[in-house]
Amino acid sequence: MNPEKPLLRIGMIGFGCVGQGFYDILQRQPGLGLAVTRIAVKNSTKPRSLPAERFSFHADELLADPELDVLVEVIDDADEAFRLVSSALRQGRRVVSANKAMVARHLAELVALQRQFSGTLLYEAAVCGSIPIIRTLDSYFSHEPLRSVSGIFNGSSNYVLTRMSEAGSGYASALAEAQALGFAETDPTLDMEGLDPRSKAVILAAHAYGVFLNPTDVLNLGIARISAADIAFAATQGQKIKLVAGLYRLPNGRVTALVCPQFVGPESPLYAVEHEFNGVVIEAEYAGTQFLRGRGAGGLPTGSAVLADVLALQRGFRYGYAKQQSARAETQLLEGLEVDIYVRHESAAGLRKALGWLAPSAQRENPNTSGTQATGTVGLEALWRCRAALREAGVFVARLDEVRPIPQVPVEAEAAYVLA
Ligand SMILES: NC(=O)c1ccc[n+]([C@@H]2O[C@H](COP(=O)([O-])OP(=O)(O)OC[C@H]3O[C@@H](n4cnc5c(N)ncnc54)[C@H](OP(=O)(O)O)[C@@H]3O)[C@@H](O)[C@H]2O)c1
Repeated sequence: MNPEKPLLRIGMIGFGCVGQGFYDILQRQPGLGLAVTRIAVKNSTKPRSLPAERFSFHADELLADPELDVLVEVIDDADEAFRLVSSALRQGRRVVSANKAMVARHLAELVALQRQFSGTLLYEAAVCGSIPIIRTLDSYFSHEPLRSVSGIFNGSSNYVLTRMSEAGSGYASALAEAQALGFAETDPTLDMEGLDPRSKAVILAAHAYGVFLNPTDVLNLGIARISAADIAFAATQGQKIKLVAGLYRLPNGRVTALVCPQFVGPESPLYAVEHEFNGVVIEAEYAGTQFLRGRGAGGLPTGSAVLADVLALQRGFRYGYAKQQSARAETQLLEGLEVDIYVRHESAAGLRKALGWLAPSAQRENPNTSGTQATGTVGLEALWRCRAALREAGVFVARLDEVRPIPQVPVEAEAAYVLA
């Protein structure tokens, strides 16, 4: 270590997958001038990879320790994480967090706290693990208008979709495989229902467009009701189904956001993002299309993002949120927007019912098919209104292309839905 370089003392709250990963990286690279001097965890009886005396069981002790230069918050409890991080920011401290649910829910307040108390919060690890997407949007594209930022933001669901596609596995067995390999949680709801990628999209919206979205206002459809029939249907079109989270600038300049399974063809860089990997496509006004792909989870990849944030704090870096100041976009999440979709239910009667919810006057039967799959156009407001009913009824929905404004000319009702 450079003897001139002062040691940065880190207090780490949480020592699970990410905490251990970050700690292991520092052991491999001792010359960085960083030292984890205190660690707080929750459970006093859990076996640890470090001696027991290294741990505290009260995170507030770290908050009260003036010797600590940086706090790294990597716990799995979003409410407690917000309490700890907001308290630290009120003390004007430098903080790194990996907690996407917490950051997405409280981002506007966290930004205000940083401004009010001169603290700094960085959270690169919260979005797509090792992919440096937040800093890319916040710094590199700070002033360039962006047409879209979209991608595969969740590795567990992408692993399930990949296995269904390459091995012909059913949803349940692909999910069980993902769980056995540690890619999916025991309760897979957050990942498979699109809640986790929704949090990430909300965080990126602040940096890409200067907008602070409420996560519960963003439409999220997941893959929990997908079947081999859906994967096979996409394959007949030369496409794959991916769970895509996206932020898109509309022709009127407003920004929309949604998370939805999507048919993706080989022309998209997302087509080749497989297994637990994540990928982000940025479409910038002047730079054109850029694509980042990498590991979105795991101890070392996520620890690498935490390390990058800690080193950035050491250099005095903070997010600029430039577009919030200079070019904050208006949002248009549902109203006046439509999208082409694919809909499937295991029974023809179930499909007819679902189409009735989506667009009562717009069904057309095709006697040459089993009648369980259909394609058509739907307004996002209708999709939002019946999303819970579709979920409960076991209907799978995927979008076929981009969200667009509803044209002013009325669409012929009979052309709106075609059984596939
Ligand atoms: N895992 C990933 O690949 C990944 C990727 C990106 C982001 N993240 C995010 O990173 C965060 C941590 O994830 P993880 O996978 O490392 O979780 P994890 O393996 O479940 O570990 C969570 C850690 O937090 C500790 N903890 C929980 N509540 C606490 C409290 N009140 N005070 C002190 N410690 C507390 C736990 O203590 P005990 O050890 O005593 O149980 C445990 O050490 C989450 O927000 C997650 O969403 C994870």
